[in-house]
Amino acid sequence: MCGIIGYVGRRPAVPVVVEGLHRLEYRGYDSAGVAFVRNNSFRVIRAKGKLGALEEKLASEQTTTATCAMGHTRWATHGVPAERNAHPHCSNDDSLAIVHNGIIENFQELKAELAAKGYVFYSETDTEVLVNLIAECRKDEPELLRAFAAALRRARGAYAVCLMERNAPDTFYAARMSAPLIFGLGTGENFAASDIPAFLPYTRKVIFLDDGDIVRATARDYDIFRLENLEPVAHEPQTVLWDMQAAQKNGYRHYMLKEIFEQPRVMTDVLAGRISEQGDSVLFPELDSLPVPVRLHIVACGTSWHSALWGRHLLEDWARIPVQVEIASEFRHRDNFLFERDEMALVISQSGETADTLAALRIARERGATVIGLCNIIGSSIAREATAVLYTQAGPEISVASTKAMCSQMLMLALLALYWQARRGNTDESRQIPRGQRISALVSLPAVLGDALSAMHEKARELSRKYAKADNFFYLGRGHCFPLALEGALKLKELSYIHAEGYAAGEMKHGPIALVDPAFPTFAIAPDDPLFPKTKSNIVEVQARQGKVIALTNEGTDLSADDIWTIPRLPSPLAGFVVLPALQLFSYEMADYLGKDVDQPRNLAKSVTVE
Ligand code: AGP
Repeated sequence: MCGIIGYVGRRPAVPVVVEGLHRLEYRGYDSAGVAFVRNNSFRVIRAKGKLGALEEKLASEQTTTATCAMGHTRWATHGVPAERNAHPHCSNDDSLAIVHNGIIENFQELKAELAAKGYVFYSETDTEVLVNLIAECRKDEPELLRAFAAALRRARGAYAVCLMERNAPDTFYAARMSAPLIFGLGTGENFAASDIPAFLPYTRKVIFLDDGDIVRATARDYDIFRLENLEPVAHEPQTVLWDMQAAQKNGYRHYMLKEIFEQPRVMTDVLAGRISEQGDSVLFPELDSLPVPVRLHIVACGTSWHSALWGRHLLEDWARIPVQVEIASEFRHRDNFLFERDEMALVISQSGETADTLAALRIARERGATVIGLCNIIGSSIAREATAVLYTQAGPEISVASTKAMCSQMLMLALLALYWQARRGNTDESRQIPRGQRISALVSLPAVLGDALSAMHEKARELSRKYAKADNFFYLGRGHCFPLALEGALKLKELSYIHAEGYAAGEMKHGPIALVDPAFPTFAIAPDDPLFPKTKSNIVEVQARQGKVIALTNEGTDLSADDIWTIPRLPSPLAGFVVLPALQLFSYEMADYLGKDVDQPRNLAKSVTVE
């Protein structure tokens, strides 16, 4: 949940690290800090709040001589957001400094052991325990690499760490266990960071470190060892195709807005190479050697879970595969869950690092299931641990609120449904729309959305001015629109802090409708599909209780509402591909109008790597 970066090279290190922290700030932003060596002692500058507060402090610091530095941006786990809990942390003897993302689960026990030896702790963090443990191990292992490994072998839990030594200010060390860490190889400079954009301006050559890897890096050299025996390991560097443009705002007010507008391009990228030349079949060579699942268990969190709920409709309807959708944090604790033969798990995660989803993947694999990972981040833990991985090609998603990632996941799920439908071969195509027609509909999506986005943005802005005073909102939908109602409500609450509930429209009368009054508006998702008449009845029921309604529908439907928002007509259930951006734009405009921090909402972090 935090972001870390280490740098060593020919440039002044502190500005490089601070710039990297800006690109990692989406991972956590309650405090930040940097460490470097000046005049043979550590300078550790930390500040509570966003990076601006740290930069203010750094403005009066002499930093230009340091060519090695590390930094941290924090999402609090152990210890409240405060300067004393911000990283980096130093050992009591000030010989070592560390930055850490993750949780050392046995830190209380290690802390007690160190306290008994006279160590003093100035923070409530597990990280300060770790750096002192390394210092303690060093009493028996003078070589820092060995002491570092010895300490890490005693730590249980998850970590990505960077470590520096006061007496060797031209070297940093880094290690990972169940938390992301990528090594970047530059020319005369090296990096380690929680995510690639942190060093993307300087290099695209990367090594995705494995759990249990320890790195020692200088400007011109690096070595990677295994934690258990310190045997050297060789990883082939890879070149990432992202460019800096993909990780910048490119003139948009916020990353979120840019990412919403990127969705037509994302869909084009998802489709590339997935449709046969004849346009009549869908290609997933990654899955050709695996059986078609007799039942699919999809596991995910948050927005990715909403994608799964949406995808279930297509997998069941088009491919005729029974699907169960699970919230990862619930699934991981269902001890008696068993996979039958040829049942399969599909885990969905933009980051590929969500702790609950990763744990679910591991449990499914332990229980003998084949696990497909649907991820955006190349080389992420889920991508590496799944039996087969499908990349969603959404590019870097910087805004904490997920937008284009969901669009890419939905499109991948639609393609998967068509792929498995063809492989099963025994579905009754006569009662279905021909596959070729569905493929054409998917191929047309980027153009449909591209043409519609600007007008949708305008409408979202207009509605936000009218509804910004609401303290509560209902989002209603039926069938494939129910998961979208959940997503609309999630987006509104996470961005604008307005209470919002997503409901299956038919459930309203079983209790929630009691809340409806003139100050409690409803956002109804009612495209012209077979369920429209039913959704319309639910809208009328809300209106009968003086509830105001925004209805997202198609031209020509017989519906009256306080605000009718018409969107392009797409065959059901593909309406989701235009409903989703409408919901995203509405939440974006509401939050921006209310003056909220759109890209970095309070209390959140992009990548939830804690349980
Ligand atoms: C949604 O806007 C959130 N950022 C959050 O719900 C997110 O989708 C969830 O944490 C899952 O993340 P993942 O896709 O990276 O696993």
